[in-house]
Amino acid sequence: MLKIAIQKSGRLYDDSLSLLKSCGLYVDNGMDQLKAEVRNFHAEVFFLRNSDIPQYLEDGVVDLAIIGENVLYEQNVGVEVLAKLGFSKCRLSIAFPKNMPFENIKSIEGKKIATSYPNSLKKYLEKEGISADIHLISGSVEIAPNIGLADAICDLVSSGSTLFKNGLEEKQIILKSEACLAANKTALSLKGEIIEELVFRIQSVLKARENRYILFNIPNSKINEASAVLPVLKSPTVLPLLDEGWSSLHSVIQVKDFWGVIRKLKNIGAQGILVIPVENMVI
Ligand code: PRP
Repeated sequence: MLKIAIQKSGRLYDDSLSLLKSCGLYVDNGMDQLKAEVRNFHAEVFFLRNSDIPQYLEDGVVDLAIIGENVLYEQNVGVEVLAKLGFSKCRLSIAFPKNMPFENIKSIEGKKIATSYPNSLKKYLEKEGISADIHLISGSVEIAPNIGLADAICDLVSSGSTLFKNGLEEKQIILKSEACLAANKTALSLKGEIIEELVFRIQSVLKARENRYILFNIPNSKINEASAVLPVLKSPTVLPLLDEGWSSLHSVIQVKDFWGVIRKLKNIGAQGILVIPVENMVI
């Protein structure tokens, strides 16, 4: 039985569960459940506290985990990252109160910095040859400068709105992070086959999210021109229409290229452009 840990509550919870479900795993989860069986895959899902997950993973209590890279870095555990998952992107940054002068990173020399990430901050300061006083706080780090507990903070920033609300400014990024799939090293050899199957499904789902299926009608005389602007997997599928001289072109395009490609296709003479989400991509 493959044991997979995900966050029990917090930012990663929804996306983690939705990723597993998109991979075809039927997780029988309910409110406040610690463990749920997967009906159609030889696995169970454990809902754990974020900060406990790295240790459980290293100790082999669970085989796999969906966890933020920042937490793994902070706890420096011996686990293997199998894939980056593209969600819960954030950065661990040093932030100063708005009115506090900051010229460069040396400006934090001798300052008192509140953080829940003491190890990551310590590593960074050592690398930069800076000495500062690290003050460990387990939550609500952003209020520390306002209540006189610290001069500055080092905390996770995503949208930046928490910093803004507390009159702080992000000054120095020390780590970029996103959710990842991490594995216990022994599990990789003992349960390699089922882990490989899950990684394969996750990569197919992630690939699909980056792409869209596109189909449109085009005069036959323009097929080559239209094909040239499509960054296709192989070459587009061309199907004849009942209307003489017209065809339907089908292809897959990346979301990031989407609007540029649509504009070019319209200029070439494409009509009836349809764009459809892709559920899975096995290539
Ligand atoms: C993190 C972090 C900040 C906030 C920043 O907390 O500690 O408080 O997100 O996000 P923003 O830049 O979008 O405002 P989170 O809500 O993840 O919970 P935590 O306090 O348990 O870390």
